[in-house]
Amino acid sequence: MRKISFAEFGGPDVLHLVEAEEPHAGPGRIRIAVRAAGVNPVDWRIREGQVLGAHPVTLPAGVGLDAAGVVDEVGEGVEGVEGVEIGDHVFGEGTDTYAEFAVLSAWARMPAGLTFEEAAGYPSVVETALRIIREVGVRPGQTLLVSGASGGVGSAVLQIARERGITVIGTAGAANQDYLRGLGALATTYGEGWVERVRRLGRVDAALDLAGSGVIPELVELTGDPRKVVSIADLGAPQLGVRFSGAAGSVPDALAEAVDLISRGRLHIPVEKSYPLTEAAAAHADSRAGHTRGRRVLVV
Ligand SMILES: NC(=O)c1ccc[n+]([C@@H]2O[C@H](COP(=O)([O-])OP(=O)(O)OC[C@H]3O[C@@H](n4cnc5c(N)ncnc54)[C@H](OP(=O)(O)O)[C@@H]3O)[C@@H](O)[C@H]2O)c1
Repeated sequence: MRKISFAEFGGPDVLHLVEAEEPHAGPGRIRIAVRAAGVNPVDWRIREGQVLGAHPVTLPAGVGLDAAGVVDEVGEGVEGVEGVEIGDHVFGEGTDTYAEFAVLSAWARMPAGLTFEEAAGYPSVVETALRIIREVGVRPGQTLLVSGASGGVGSAVLQIARERGITVIGTAGAANQDYLRGLGALATTYGEGWVERVRRLGRVDAALDLAGSGVIPELVELTGDPRKVVSIADLGAPQLGVRFSGAAGSVPDALAEAVDLISRGRLHIPVEKSYPLTEAAAAHADSRAGHTRGRRVLVV
């Protein structure tokens, strides 16, 4: 089969399309014929060698955590529990998903009406959004400030918070203000004077740093308590008394919750752009530029 691989850490040009052995579904896993793979910032962070503590890598390495596709192998012990069958259309999380075949460790049947491209954009962002809303401890009726609200994780946070009766104030670039409002948030731009603009929109009970843009002191000031702030993008957060959330996979029912929200029309992550598998390097460069609305996706 063909897959994207890199043999050294570095820029997007270390990614190459190579011939590789097909992976197989071990116990408790399934294999899919990948139709689309989600592009997450962690994918290029791993490629650059930035996050080796959380994601140990043996070179040469494959790329990609999220995918949607057609089940073609079911590992031992899976039947009867998750009830998945050969030929089912599923989306989920696994390893080396920028490939023609990939093994998934968590999956769910795709909701009706979703394309493979759309489905590939959900798994990691929904898991992250559910995890950090829980960790920041925001309750219905309260107001959550989200710094960097228009990306993949922000898009999921805004919609899940709205569903739970939480008011959201989101920051994003000028081009994404209407997008945030369309997701039910109060919106303002980041940059010079943003703290005052947020104050004018309302009192802030809790805050999420999704952009890693160095605003944690201001988020602490706005909430009045470092324990009411969580970051997923600034490793310096703990030095400021703020929790860094990085334990991916700690919301086991995230995909089931995603299916429920999508099926009820309460959650939609737009695809900013689709790329053929051969253009994985361009997808990484575009993601790294830091202004993705929703998710970028590779089509296999
Ligand atoms: N620790 C974890 O478990 C975990 C999990 C998932 C993601 N992450 C990390 O969290 C970050 C966000 O992930 P993502 O998938 O949502 O990223 P993304 O889709 O690339 O979105 C990034 C967003 O940040 C906004 N942004 C750019 N510069 C900004 C600034 N100075 N102030 C405020 N917002 C700014 C952009 O908005 P505009 O386009 O409007 O400028 C864009 O929508 C990434 O760094 C990723 O690596 C961590």
